[in-house]
Amino acid sequence: MTTSNRRYHITTFGCQMNKADSERMAGILEDMGFEWSEDPNNADLILYNTCTIRDNAEQKVYSYLGRQAKRKQEQPNLTLVVAGCVAQQEGEALLRRVPELDLVMGPQHANRLEDLLEQVFGGSQVVATEPINIVEDITKPRRDSTVTAWVNVIYGCNERCTYCVVPNVRGVEQSRTPEAIRSEIEQLGRLGYQEVTLLGQNIDAYGRDLPGVTPEGRHQHTLTDLLYYVHDVPGIERIRFATSHPRYFTERLIQACAELPKVCEHFHIPFQSGDNEVLKRMSRGYTHEKYRRIIAMIRQYMPDASISADAIVGFPGETEAQFENTLQLLEDIGFDHLNTAAYSPRPGTPAAVWDQQLSEEVKSDRLQRLNHLVEAKALERSQRYLNRIEEVLVEDQNLKDPSQVMGRTRGNRLTFFDGNIAELKGQLVRVKVIGVRAFSLTAERLAVPCC
Ligand code: SAH
Ligand code: SF4
Ligand code: F3S
Repeated sequence: MTTSNRRYHITTFGCQMNKADSERMAGILEDMGFEWSEDPNNADLILYNTCTIRDNAEQKVYSYLGRQAKRKQEQPNLTLVVAGCVAQQEGEALLRRVPELDLVMGPQHANRLEDLLEQVFGGSQVVATEPINIVEDITKPRRDSTVTAWVNVIYGCNERCTYCVVPNVRGVEQSRTPEAIRSEIEQLGRLGYQEVTLLGQNIDAYGRDLPGVTPEGRHQHTLTDLLYYVHDVPGIERIRFATSHPRYFTERLIQACAELPKVCEHFHIPFQSGDNEVLKRMSRGYTHEKYRRIIAMIRQYMPDASISADAIVGFPGETEAQFENTLQLLEDIGFDHLNTAAYSPRPGTPAAVWDQQLSEEVKSDRLQRLNHLVEAKALERSQRYLNRIEEVLVEDQNLKDPSQVMGRTRGNRLTFFDGNIAELKGQLVRVKVIGVRAFSLTAERLAVPCC
C-alpha cells in the first residue's frame, strides 16, 4: 500500500526510554514514507507512546485517546496506535475500552512497528504484548536533537521494587552487545553528534545477561568496561549514562568516570527513601548508609560531581519520622536535583494491596515539604557555579528568549547565554556564569574558544 503524503504524529509520555523508543518508531514511519505532523489533528496516523509509572500518567493517556477516538468516528482512515507501558499493562483490555484503536503494542515491540502496521493495513486490529527478544535496532531513528542522542544499552528490569510496574511492562533485562552499541555511537559521531547518553532502567546492571566471566569471577561485560570500550569514538565529546541503581554501583565504575575525560561528572542515582525500614519494604536492596557511602566515594574521586536522584513520599506505612529521614538524607547530601513523587498504587504490584495506604492529604503535604527542600538545596548547589568558567554544549535556542542559546554544563545544569543559535548549535562554548537559580544558570560567552 502506498503511504506517500501520509502524515504521522507521535506524542511521548514518560521516561527517556520512551523518548528513545519514539525516535526509533518515528524513523520506521519515515522509512515507510510517512511525514511528520506537529499537529495530531492533521495526522493520518497517531501514535501515543505511553507511561504508567503513576496513575496520573496513565489517566493523561486516556484523555488524549478519548479525543482522537472521537475523531476517528468521523475519519475512519485515521490509524490509532497505543505503544509503550500502558499498552503493555492493559493489552486487550485497551481495545475493549477504546474499540477505535488499530494497534496496541508493548515497548519490546517498538522495532517491529512496520510489521505490525502491515497487519493493520491488511485489515486487522492488532495486539502485540507477548514477551520477545528485542529485535536489534536496524532502523535509523528520527532523533529530536542533532547535538545529543540517546543510546539504549540495556532494556528491561530484573528488580522487584514493591511499588513499581516497570518489570511488568518492560520485561527482563536484555543488554545489547558492546559491538552494536559502539557501532551506533560511531554512526552518531559521523553524523556530527557531540554527546551521547547511554540508557537503561538500571544501567549499571548492564552486561549481567551477556555471556562471559573474567578470571576474577565477575561478568566480562559491565558498564565500566563499556565506558572504556566506547570512549574513543571520534566526534563524541561527552558521555552520560542513566539511570543507576545503588545496588550495582561500584568503585570500579566511579574510577572509570574519574579517569575518562569524556564521561561527565553527573550521576543520577535514585534513593527513593532515606529510611532503612521503608527501603526494606520497597525491596530496594540497600540501606541509606550504603547510599551515603556511594555518594561519598563519588565525591572523593570527583569533588565537584553533580548528584541527582528520585524519591517517593507516602509509601504505604511511611511514618512522619521515616519521611523525615528522607528529608535528612536530602539535607545531608545536598542534591543538585531530585525528582519527587507521591506514592501511587499501581496494578499488579505488591505494595498496592497493602494495608496502611496513606491519605492523599498526607502524601501531598509530604511532597510539598520535600519539594521545598529540593529547591532550597538545588539553589545552594547552584551557588558554586557563580563566577566560574564552565564548558557548555549548545543544544538549542532559549525558547523564551530567542537572543539566547541554551545548553548544559558537564554537571548537567541548564545554562542560558546571549548568542546566535545558527552559529553556536553543537558547539562546546566556554562561558562565565553570572547568575544562578535553583535549576538553571545564566552566563556570558568568553572570547577564548573552548578546549
Ligand atoms: N529504575 C530506576 C527508576 C525507574 S522509574 C530506579 O530504580 O531507580 C522512575 C521513578 O519513578 C522511580 O525512581 C520512582 O521514584 C518513581 N516511581 C516508580 N513507581 C512509582 C509509584 N508507584 N509511585 C510513585 N513513584 C513511582
Ligand atoms: Fe522499578 Fe525498581 Fe526496576 Fe527501578 S529498579 S525500574 S524502581 S522495579
Ligand atoms: Fe513510564 Fe514506562 Fe518509563 S512506565 S517511566 S514510560 S518505563
